[in-house]
Amino acid sequence: MLRVLIGVTVLALAGWLAYALATDGSGAAAVASGSGTGESTPGTVVPSEWTSSTQCRACHQQIFDEWLASPHANSWNNEDVRVQSKDFANKDCIDCHAPRSVWETGIGERVLPRAARRAEGVDCLTCHLLPDGRVAGTVENPTAPCRPTVRRELQRVDFCAGCHDQHKTVQQWKATPFAEEGTGCIQCHMPYRTDDPAAGRVHTMPGGHYIEVVRTAVTLTAAPRAEGGFLVEVANVGAGHSYPTDERSRASDVWWRPLPAAADVLDTHGVAADGGPWRHLHRIRDPYRDETHIVSTLLMYGETRPLVIDDPAAAGGVEVALVYKRAPYYRDPATGAPIATEQVTDPFIDAELVHRAVARP
Ligand code: HEC
Ligand code: HEC
Ligand code: HEC
Ligand code: HEC
Ligand code: HEC
Repeated sequence: MLRVLIGVTVLALAGWLAYALATDGSGAAAVASGSGTGESTPGTVVPSEWTSSTQCRACHQQIFDEWLASPHANSWNNEDVRVQSKDFANKDCIDCHAPRSVWETGIGERVLPRAARRAEGVDCLTCHLLPDGRVAGTVENPTAPCRPTVRRELQRVDFCAGCHDQHKTVQQWKATPFAEEGTGCIQCHMPYRTDDPAAGRVHTMPGGHYIEVVRTAVTLTAAPRAEGGFLVEVANVGAGHSYPTDERSRASDVWWRPLPAAADVLDTHGVAADGGPWRHLHRIRDPYRDETHIVSTLLMYGETRPLVIDDPAAAGGVEVALVYKRAPYYRDPATGAPIATEQVTDPFIDAELVHRAVARP
């Protein structure tokens, strides 16, 4: 063990020296040495030590800004996580919301909780910092301050699995055609910034917090049936796993109402402005473990969910709305108290429109 440690230190020193020699000792080098151990005797060169994601900002500004705006960066401060974990009094919740480096615990393994700088959430070090102090990347560059080294494992779905498979998102993906064609998590969630792969991958990693991404997951159609009434279909055409996936608190509801007279005049939600009360038709959701009375209705990739509206009130036509909620329960906007779905006539409480469809007989 000691020999390994010494070897690593020597390598680290060698890399650092090479870098120091390759630069004039100012500029970037100053930034990097500022992140060092701080205990160096004058004249000796110490390897850089990465202790915070803010250190990466100086040289990776764009990635840093994308990450800072992402749910990953917010995973410790996230209000909903705070409420549900009782301010992390439930220590199990710390593991993935303020994790140590994936490379420390092993790809695909359950990550371990971090003791320091928890506010940085799932940060640069979580995904990039190798146990030897180098960073995992797509280039080999021992002279760069952070000493990137090629680690292809970063691109694999297993890399995300340590945190993203507790509700089987990765397992679900393995059952889709995307698995066979090699379209993994990052191909959809971390696209290249431009047509040139050298421009790198977007670090926002959007999912359920980005309605425009949710819209690409599904289609909604409505059409009259020969036997009367209407057939509504929701299809998962774009999510490489179930819709919704992962977090159990997501819900997607289908609502309908008789087609309003001025069906083309839309309000700010994107539905008819003057339409009257909605009726709940269907909910797509994975229940919490204690909700044993609810069956999972997750919509798998490639699946189409047929729903029928067979109600005399629909005789003149229907307007149908598919909405997405990040938390499943409806709350009274005035008091915050939960309201049963049957009593709700406003589908847009805490929810956003995914798609709308209209159909006439
Ligand atoms: C195995 C890793 C892991 C553990 C442990 C974990 N989480 Fe999470 N959590 C995640 C991931 C991954 C997401 C993102 C999933 C998604 O967006 O669908 C998430 C998302 C959430 C969200 C949704 C946040 C939002 O803005 O919508 C809440 C709330 C949450 N977790 C609460 C908890 C609580 C409470 C605990 C402890 C009981 C916990 N988590 C433990 C991995 C974990
Ligand atoms: C003082 C400037 C500096 C700092 C600070 C810095 N880096 Fe780097 N980083 C570079 C340079 C220069 C390269 C080399 C780019 C190349 O060779 O194409 C690089 C490359 C990388 C790569 C590989 C890029 C690729 O295309 O695969 C990764 C990953 C990386 N850095 C992550 C980090 C992380 C994480 C941090 C913070 C812990 C960090 N860097 C801090 C300057 C820096
Ligand atoms: C949730 C994991 C995760 C987090 C957090 C993360 N990265 Fe990355 N990063 C990746 C993956 C995956 C790649 C793509 C690797 C590949 O294409 O082989 C990547 C690529 C990179 C690259 C190569 C160039 C590019 O843009 O693709 C750099 C540099 C980099 N990350 C730096 C950072 C820095 C700095 C931070 C923090 C501000 C950060 N990363 C946060 C997973 C992450
Ligand atoms: C160390 C644990 C960890 C790893 C590794 C990880 N994530 Fe996450 N991820 C989280 C947590 C925790 C959240 C929830 C953050 C929140 O909302 O509080 C999350 C949220 C997300 C979201 C949801 C964003 C949204 O809009 O709600 C996406 C998408 C995502 N991660 C993609 C990825 C991908 C792709 C990878 C692999 C390259 C990855 N993650 C690796 C922990 C992780
Ligand atoms: C073909 C593109 C595609 C692939 C491949 C893909 N996703 Fe997604 N993902 C989506 C779309 C679209 C959404 C938004 C709809 C939804 O939530 O299902 C999404 C949503 C998510 C969310 C957010 C869920 C939430 O509750 O906010 C997470 C987390 C996520 N994906 C993780 C992954 C992981 C991990 C992988 C790899 C195993 C992966 N995705 C592969 C397209 C993809």
